Amino acid sequence: MNPVAPSAFASTPRAAGAGPQLVQCHRENLTEVRRELSAGLNAAHAYTSPKFLYDALGSLLFEAITLLPEYYPTRTEADILSVNARAIAQAIGAVDTLVDLGAGNCAKALHLIPSLQPQRYVGVDISVDFLEKGLAEVQHQHPQMAITGLGLDFSSALSMPADIVQGRPVFFYPGSSIGNFTPEQAAVFLASVQGQAREGGLLIGVDLIKDTAWLEPAYDDALGVTAAFNLNLLRHLNRLIDSNFDPRDWRHVAYFNRSASRIEMHLEAQRALVVRWPQGERKFEAGERLHTENSYKYSIEGFAALLQSSGFARSRCWVDARGWFAVFWAQG
Ligand code: AVI
Repeated sequence: MNPVAPSAFASTPRAAGAGPQLVQCHRENLTEVRRELSAGLNAAHAYTSPKFLYDALGSLLFEAITLLPEYYPTRTEADILSVNARAIAQAIGAVDTLVDLGAGNCAKALHLIPSLQPQRYVGVDISVDFLEKGLAEVQHQHPQMAITGLGLDFSSALSMPADIVQGRPVFFYPGSSIGNFTPEQAAVFLASVQGQAREGGLLIGVDLIKDTAWLEPAYDDALGVTAAFNLNLLRHLNRLIDSNFDPRDWRHVAYFNRSASRIEMHLEAQRALVVRWPQGERKFEAGERLHTENSYKYSIEGFAALLQSSGFARSRCWVDARGWFAVFWAQG
């Protein structure tokens, strides 16, 4: 499958058996990436965007995290979607285009498609390369469905190319990925989705506030998979900006900051050191941290209010028996 540039995208329906259509909109701008990373590393409290956790190995490590006994969100969300499949499908109604945001291997959408029965599936991820296998599986299981893979960076706001979303769309944003935005960024992102949802809406998974005893092990597991996921960021940075981070000098730290309602992930320097890259350098004292990710946790009322302030007039949600995770359907 060869991706086409967006200008070459045609809205003509593809013949059954023609295979998924791939459209790559995002082009990595290395100069911009270097500028962004240098600014974060030079900040008083050094930070990097969580998007840099996902190189090829980072994506595999995240998939491994979702299989860990401590990491409840993926399993809990899947249970909510399966136990309430009929009620969710009834609430949503007819779906022309199912837009799967951060689709990856498309596994979550594959569970949803039988009950929603969309005419068309659009898997969106930063690169169509991440989507190829998943889209092939969707096509295999649903040979008559029109399928598009879209390589798009929606890390600040969603802007779908014209023609890709047809009829009544349902945007699907599972996994509580919304928690990796600050609430202010989340409001901007949600408003951008609302602006494109027309008569359709947004089905979104949200992790809920709970006891620290459950939250912290989910981000600091016994096998150290999350630690490897976090430390792998340093290797990714070395490739992106030619820096000299040595993962052995750093330790994974994750804790729940209850006043900010977020899990924070950091990397902590184990000794005083200087990190160098062609455009700069940063001194870290022993114990100083690089902030790599926030994962915000919401109350049901808090997230419903966020949806409303982002322009969604109505929402309802389904929650698991422990009240750990919620799936919201938002419209209007
Ligand atoms: C992708 N995102 C919703 C995950 C989360 O739970 O915030 C990323 C993650 N970070 C550590 N473990 C999982």
